Amino acid sequence: MQQQPNNKNSQNLTGKTAVVTGGNVGLGFQSALELAESGAHVVIACRSVEKGETAMARIRQKVSSASLEVIPLDLTDRDSIHQFAQVFSSKHDRLDILLSNAGVVNLKELARTKEGWEMHFATNHLGHFLLTGLLFETLVATPDARVVTVSSGAYKAAKMNFDDLHWENRPYARIGSYAESKLANLLFMSALQRRFDAAGSSAKSMSAHPGLAATERQQSIGIGGWLSRVMARPVSFGARPQMMAATAPDLPACTFLGPRFGMWGSPSPIKLSGLAIDEKVQEKLWAISEELTEFQYPKATENA
Ligand SMILES: NC(=O)c1ccc[n+]([C@@H]2O[C@H](COP(=O)([O-])OP(=O)(O)OC[C@H]3O[C@@H](n4cnc5c(N)ncnc54)[C@H](OP(=O)(O)O)[C@@H]3O)[C@@H](O)[C@H]2O)c1
Repeated sequence: MQQQPNNKNSQNLTGKTAVVTGGNVGLGFQSALELAESGAHVVIACRSVEKGETAMARIRQKVSSASLEVIPLDLTDRDSIHQFAQVFSSKHDRLDILLSNAGVVNLKELARTKEGWEMHFATNHLGHFLLTGLLFETLVATPDARVVTVSSGAYKAAKMNFDDLHWENRPYARIGSYAESKLANLLFMSALQRRFDAAGSSAKSMSAHPGLAATERQQSIGIGGWLSRVMARPVSFGARPQMMAATAPDLPACTFLGPRFGMWGSPSPIKLSGLAIDEKVQEKLWAISEELTEFQYPKATENA
């Protein structure tokens, strides 16, 4: 028997297709669960098929009728991202919700991809930039599609160091590099919306942050995890802003949602810093991202 949507945070999503990057654990898992509860077909996009299958089994324990699949995706590997898009596009002709949730956070040591790109910037921004680009036409063709790029309140601590995006000429700072990647997420959100608008699409680009959510990884952050154990909110609470950004009707494009009081409170629109809404900075990042990923989004004239 079809299980009825029972998730108060989201709409009835029967007939809709959602992709959740990092849907195997943490906020991504919680979002995949809630999207499935609401009736969407959910594609769990994660590095390990085994972990994805475990996540599917956990979701099915709670939602027996859940419609789920796993497609492997490693956001630090451009071949993997292209392969993901190819497999997804061969199976689906619509994408209602792209929840770009996966991320690495506060890596202790400077880490790089095979291209030499700094790991936070590569995973959190460049990987999602390329993924969204490869799915752009499908998003444009899907009525009222949403892209939600999960950022963090930490973005405010950053500025874009365009001269040294990969931390080659400055001492590595884990919080700084994470914050820069999360600022990039917000700059991307607005620049992406301009591309949707230029394409004449009804798609909306949104962002959200969870406050501090007690995902497993978070337990290691702060002073021996003390900070997160004391301060962090349950994962189901942390996922509310991104779920609302993904599903709430009538939200304006480029809404950035987070807990009203930073870490506490109901999901509310958060005012962006001047830097995050600076179009010149957004477009500079866009141009660099196209160059690095060797991927050009369709030009407006091709779509309008
Ligand atoms: N939790 C918080 O308090 C908090 C606060 C602010 C912002 N956020 C943001 O919320 C999002 C989710 O955080 P979380 O706490 O749920 O983190 P998490 O529990 O550590 O989950 C992170 C997810 O990202 C995936 N991932 C990492 N690198 C990847 C790659 N190269 N390719 C594909 N997937 C990759 C992980 O996959 P594996 O399982 O394979 O490692 C995992 O599924 C992140 O964007 C984070 O920046 C979280």
